[in-house]
Amino acid sequence: MSADVIMSARGLKRHFQGSGALFRKPAPVRAVDGVSLDIRRGETFAIVGESGSGKSTLARLLARLLEPTAGSVTFEGKEIANLSGAALRDLRRDVQFIFQDPFSSLNPRASVGRLIGEPLETHFPKMTAAERRERVAELLRQVGLRPEHMGRYPHEFSGGQRQRIGIARALASRPTLVIGDEPVSALDVSVQAQVVNLLADLREALGLTMIVIAHDLAVIRHMSNRVAVMYLGTLVEVGETDTLFAEPRHPYTRALLAAIPEPAPGVSRPAEAIGGEIPSPAAPPPGCRFHTRCTYVQERCRVDVPELIDDAGDGHPVACHFWREIAARHPFAPPVERQGHGPAAERVALYRHAVARAEPIATTTTGK
Ligand SMILES: Nc1ncnc2c1ncn2[C@@H]1O[C@H](COP(=O)(O)OP(=O)(O)O)[C@@H](O)[C@H]1O
Ligand SMILES: [Mg+2]
Repeated sequence: MSADVIMSARGLKRHFQGSGALFRKPAPVRAVDGVSLDIRRGETFAIVGESGSGKSTLARLLARLLEPTAGSVTFEGKEIANLSGAALRDLRRDVQFIFQDPFSSLNPRASVGRLIGEPLETHFPKMTAAERRERVAELLRQVGLRPEHMGRYPHEFSGGQRQRIGIARALASRPTLVIGDEPVSALDVSVQAQVVNLLADLREALGLTMIVIAHDLAVIRHMSNRVAVMYLGTLVEVGETDTLFAEPRHPYTRALLAAIPEPAPGVSRPAEAIGGEIPSPAAPPPGCRFHTRCTYVQERCRVDVPELIDDAGDGHPVACHFWREIAARHPFAPPVERQGHGPAAERVALYRHAVARAEPIATTTTGK
């Protein structure tokens, strides 16, 4: 293991067995079905893919909130499945989770002071009540909230503020790795930008490593150093964010990127615009899992499973038999630049604007 890798997964699988009839067991849902990845220390690693592709299950496996069916996860070089006692408590302290819905993940009957104080009691049992109060105040300031709001309850805050509370709670234990499962998807676009900025600032200030799941590619583009694209329980492409957005290799990635803006009136959808539904993870297609929806499908794709390999040797692995031919014959034109209008393009532009403006977070503590 190279020294700059903080977390690794190898052949990670999680299958869910449905409760079936007595004599016929239904096929298991293969939510995560053979994922290997390396997270580098200090990076923001994004996982993107349609709903149902297994992102949340993968995130929960990485944090050991869920046990794998097969495969391994190592954190700081140690297999996390084997941890117990003090070592498991260390993992719980060092790897923290930010959930999508700040309201449902916060106990409505606990004050903000208690919500953030709880993890302090758990992880720093020797802290005095006064020290804890001081630390809660510091955490609130760090996430752009006012320490004097410590006595308030979650319902008294806006969605963005509640997510800030969720972030403060995650940071209380002084984690080194923070996993955000769609941390901004439930928020208004303008608020999303503020929270994305906050996370970026905190990552920088605290030297965090972050794994961020999002289905919004604009969020991914602004936040991450590298991106993994997930489809039906497997990774189909991993690359540096800028490279992956400029030169996507997998037809699925190309389709996701092509789908960012709505085509302007009179402009036909790009050839690779994704059609159809994601197949059931209980019965993934044979061969390449994406072949049923792929614009460039060949006979071989129906039978031969493509491995995620870095055959170009440039740190941009892809699981497609024909990516070179596709890239040569159909060069990818980034859609936002190609046709910069339509509601989604506007949203991306608005988002960029909001991020660039970098509003001071401390002024957003009242109202929505
Ligand atoms: N606890 C569970 N029991 C059964 N099936 C599950 C469970 N959790 C997730 N799944 C299924 O696994 C697949 C992947 O889900 P999920 O990891 O939530 O994907 P994503 O986060 O990408 O939307 C889905 O088909 C989902 O229904
Ligand atoms: Mg999810």
